[in-house]
Amino acid sequence: MKKVIMDVDTGIDDALAILYAIESKQLDILGITTVNGNVPLDYVTKNTLKVLHLAGENIPAYPGAVEPYLREAVHEFKVHGNDGIGNALDDMTVTKELEDTFAADFIIESAYEHNKDLTLIMVGPLTNLALALKKDPAIKDMIGEVVIMGGVVSNAGHGNMLPTSEFNIFADAEAAKVVFHKGLDITLVSLDVTHQVMMTDEHVEKLKDTKYYNFVKDATDEYMAYGLRLYGKRQCALHDPLTVGYVLNPTLLTTEKYYVDVETSSPLSYGQTICDFRGLLGKEPNVNICPGVDSERFLEDFIGTLNL
Ligand code: BDR
Ligand code: CA
Repeated sequence: MKKVIMDVDTGIDDALAILYAIESKQLDILGITTVNGNVPLDYVTKNTLKVLHLAGENIPAYPGAVEPYLREAVHEFKVHGNDGIGNALDDMTVTKELEDTFAADFIIESAYEHNKDLTLIMVGPLTNLALALKKDPAIKDMIGEVVIMGGVVSNAGHGNMLPTSEFNIFADAEAAKVVFHKGLDITLVSLDVTHQVMMTDEHVEKLKDTKYYNFVKDATDEYMAYGLRLYGKRQCALHDPLTVGYVLNPTLLTTEKYYVDVETSSPLSYGQTICDFRGLLGKEPNVNICPGVDSERFLEDFIGTLNL
């Protein structure tokens, strides 16, 4: 089983990604690290612990960065609702607590312990990993693979925060810049492919009478309403679950390696992931981008896995 750490800013699709990873029964989830992102960190923490409780899992969860690397925090209440998970678990009381270790330190410790046999699934802003790399740059050689939900490369202009920028990178572009240039084995699951895996009410209804139906239905209701405003159709993109899907089954996505950098100075395109498709900058390729996705196979596996 692949050993993974999931770094999350839970978030509706983060919640779905955590459930998908757990219920796949194919991953050894060493821990979940939280990060400020979709909502402030205390909301992220509460949501993450609730999702683990819902799944009946006692995976350790580690508190991460409260703020981005350099910039002020931005949040996404309009997408994920005023608590971050569409108020779907309002009545749930959770007794589980966070571990004491700081997320970046847990990443460092795990890198040493599992030398190369460690995959990081990063589905929020990249603050924790940037902090870990700054504290101990040697871990770059001990992390096997880093799979990141973030950015938009081929479809520039189809961002979700700025025309060219995606939320996770926009929310902490300086951290992303640090992470992209440390020589890690990075795969970027960007909006180019995540916008091709849309969950609709029809998919949700396939879960009727199952363990997660009420949660998925309640949590995605607002998220789909946002989808209606953004895409003109009641649907929601399964960004973070697709990132887990790739770790479970790499053949779901095609990959190509290019030099990718992050814009951090222009107000018009802050957080843009710029992919040098033609090698004009003459730099070593550093990121596997994902040009293609088998959407049907992914959606089938995702719904099938939650259908318990
Ligand atoms: C990403 O941003 C967040 O809103 C989602 O959870 C996902 O990780 C999509 O741009
Ligand atoms: Ca997320």
